Amino acid sequence: MEHNDIDTIRRMAGLATPMTLRVAVTLGLPDRLLGDGASIDELAVELDVAPVALDLLLNHLATLGVVERTSTGYRTTAYGANLCVDAGNGLTDLLRLDTAGGRAELAFVELAHSVSTGQAAYPRRYGQDFYADLAEYPHLRESFDRQMTHRFREQIPRIVAGFDWSRFSTIVDVGGGQGSLLAAILAAHPGMHGHLVDLEPTAAEARHTFSAHDLDERTQVTAGSFFDPLPAGADAYLLFDILHNWDDEHAHRILSRCVEAARPVGRVLVIEGVGGLRANSQSDLDMLVIFGGRERRIDEFRALASSHGLVLDAVTDLTDQRCLLEFQFAAGQ
Ligand SMILES: C[S@@+](CC[C@H](N)C(=O)[O-])C[C@H]1O[C@@H](n2cnc3c(N)ncnc32)[C@H](O)[C@@H]1O
Repeated sequence: MEHNDIDTIRRMAGLATPMTLRVAVTLGLPDRLLGDGASIDELAVELDVAPVALDLLLNHLATLGVVERTSTGYRTTAYGANLCVDAGNGLTDLLRLDTAGGRAELAFVELAHSVSTGQAAYPRRYGQDFYADLAEYPHLRESFDRQMTHRFREQIPRIVAGFDWSRFSTIVDVGGGQGSLLAAILAAHPGMHGHLVDLEPTAAEARHTFSAHDLDERTQVTAGSFFDPLPAGADAYLLFDILHNWDDEHAHRILSRCVEAARPVGRVLVIEGVGGLRANSQSDLDMLVIFGGRERRIDEFRALASSHGLVLDAVTDLTDQRCLLEFQFAAGQ
């Protein structure tokens, strides 16, 4: 093996760099070191950390180009400014160790457990599953909702334009989060009504979203679980990034709630990365480690749905990251 190859593999495999970035963001270093920066000593006092260790951390951040040395200490580079809260790119919610996303990633140290059992690593590390943690710790729930709303901010117009939503007069957004997608769909289709189901306090956030878009008249929000009966009789039941969070047993339970509410003619719309189409290998592992789920392939979706009497009617490419699978009831179901 070439020496360069060995170096590359060591760099890829090393945990020092990802953890350095995450600890730096958690300490707020990129923000604090904007402009003139600060010396190690003043920073160590301010942050109540060990000065020698802080210097080692900043030294590695300098190697990465996130900060640079000054005559008195370190300051954030233009590149490192991407890690500031105001950069508006959502990175801080992904990396901070005290956010839902940043904390969940640490479950990767238990990847071997997931690989040997096929189950989530998250509960092994934290003692309960991801959504139970969100229910217990409001700051985790807030950061997760922010992360979810942020991640598709720029793609929502394409998701709205990329599918013929006008065929439906009522849509139930199952696990619809803070409601930004449903609000955008309804805003583009003035005759349509929407009903969002999610857990509290996310459901309350969705109510605010709809009010802010002047959609109170055309929306309903139910605070509840998609493992319980869903609002019945809508034209379409939307599952956007829901099923990949769950193993087959739970995915079946969610689908059966959609199907009992959608009978006899409603459609079930699944928007996901879809393995082999839009999903990437890393997010696939994220789903495994955090949730015990995965980015299912089309055949797996077909199999999942067919046990509920559903057939795949169409696959629509929405964005470079997501496809929409449209299911309808098989004839005679
Ligand atoms: C990955 S997020 C996707 C949110 C939204 N569909 C989107 O794409 O932005 C999963 C959502 O499922 C919700 N959820 C998790 N467990 C749930 C349950 N048992 N019942 C209802 N919603 C649930 C979460 O609160 C969260 O909003």
